[in-house]
Amino acid sequence: MNGNSYALSAKIASSFKAMSDAAVAAGESFYITSSYRSYNDQVSTYAYWVRTSGANNADTFSARPGYSEHQTGLAFDVAASVNSKQYVLSDFNKTTRYNWLQANAADYGFIQRYYAGSESITGYKAEEWHYRYVGVAVAKDMQKKGIKTLEEYWGVSGGNYY
Ligand code: DAL
Ligand code: ZN
Repeated sequence: MNGNSYALSAKIASSFKAMSDAAVAAGESFYITSSYRSYNDQVSTYAYWVRTSGANNADTFSARPGYSEHQTGLAFDVAASVNSKQYVLSDFNKTTRYNWLQANAADYGFIQRYYAGSESITGYKAEEWHYRYVGVAVAKDMQKKGIKTLEEYWGVSGGNYY
């Protein structure tokens, strides 16, 4: 961690800290760019994207209020570095931090939630920066079985609001 502020559920505080400490020890520390969001935070976030990208586009990458994993306190977005005071999300998958998380996040109960190639299953474009806690047993089982989405793991449908 780099001392930036974030809020996550107390239930995952120790798991997150253990993962952060291990990342720092490996020289792969990352910045949290977004963590817990209240319902009203998500109202503003989604409204911002609808305003700037249009509702159809916004729905491919921003959850409507009430549907974001960020509202659970179990999810967070990471970036490897800060560029001109701007966090860089889009290139995160080109970094060694990303590789470290891919290899190690499951050991702490975290998974990348939105993979490229799974858009029609999750309903969202790939987000290499968005991780969520699912518990060590589930995360490692998904890794072992090569299952990339919670929808497929649990056998539930997703991808739209209907
Ligand atoms: N960007 C993700 C899908 C969210 O809004 O929760
Ligand atoms: Zn996110």
